[in-house]
Amino acid sequence: MAIGASPIQAVRWDGRRLAVLDQTLLPAQEAWLSLAGARDTADAIVRLAVRGAPNIGIAAAYGLAMELAARPSLGALEEGSEILLASRPTAVNLAWAVERVRTAALGAGPSTLASAARAEAQRIHASEDAASAALAAGGAAVLDGARTLLTHCNTGALATGGRGSALAVCIALAERHEGVKVLACETRPLLQGARLTAWELQRLGIPFALIVDGAAAGLLRGGEADAVVVGCDRVAANGDVANKVGTYAHALAARAAGVPFVVAGPTSTIDLATPTGDAIEIEERDAAEVLGFGGVLVAPADTPVRNPAFDVTPAGYVTALVTERGVAQPVDGASVAALVAEPAA
Ligand code: MRU
Repeated sequence: MAIGASPIQAVRWDGRRLAVLDQTLLPAQEAWLSLAGARDTADAIVRLAVRGAPNIGIAAAYGLAMELAARPSLGALEEGSEILLASRPTAVNLAWAVERVRTAALGAGPSTLASAARAEAQRIHASEDAASAALAAGGAAVLDGARTLLTHCNTGALATGGRGSALAVCIALAERHEGVKVLACETRPLLQGARLTAWELQRLGIPFALIVDGAAAGLLRGGEADAVVVGCDRVAANGDVANKVGTYAHALAARAAGVPFVVAGPTSTIDLATPTGDAIEIEERDAAEVLGFGGVLVAPADTPVRNPAFDVTPAGYVTALVTERGVAQPVDGASVAALVAEPAA
């Protein structure tokens, strides 16, 4: 099947400024924000105008590079890094990208600090684009026999370099085989599945149905999906996976139904410094996101709320972890370490 001709892009770099498609306004409006430094990039990340683990890494890298272009100094490097690191805690891609740009800048002389940072941000962007293509091909091979894929949140081009992570796997499978379709979970409370994944799948021309999160377990039990494929925000050294809240419930349901549960993401999402999922900081977001949507209250105003934005799926529930550097299966400390090991010289 030929898939959507015009590529979807969420971040555009013109050599000086970063333009991001404001995802808070999709699908109603396609409006671009022009970012110029660390502060406005961090603000865009906090309010999810730019989102998805790999893309917040790419945006943060450019945010720091732009800050240094405006103020080429060690003070700006430290201040800009801190501002960006404080924006969101769970996706390790953000800290990974800021650290890479920071190291590149520190390794350059005062007169080349800004250009070294910009070059590193561009390298990160290019390698995340390439990673998406490679992991999509690997994921389609792992899931070759599957035709209906259940997915969660948004893991397409809006969230990553290239065409996505889990969604890129669905696209690659649809390119290989007729009859591929996607069950897209709406993803409460911010509806990344309904607003963003449905928007991408429509543009791509891939058959799909949008489902409420609570429908997933029953549909899996009824044999209506051949596999679950999701993205990831941080993979701990033992293979535990943090991803959008609701993911763990899908993993449990997939296990109960005997359906493979596959996680796809670039190796920039693997964090060997975090031993297990218990050590992953889970972002807790504002109560207003649960209490209402689009300015309309859906619960009494003073209702107490918990709003963890992510959850952790233990490695034992993950059938395979698909990256641009290969597939970990089974997923455990040794197979995860092998994915990020330097190749022997
Ligand atoms: O809060 P978000 O929308 O940034 O959360 C995004 C997710 O949880 C994605 O599943 C994850 O980043 C993987 S995207 C390739």
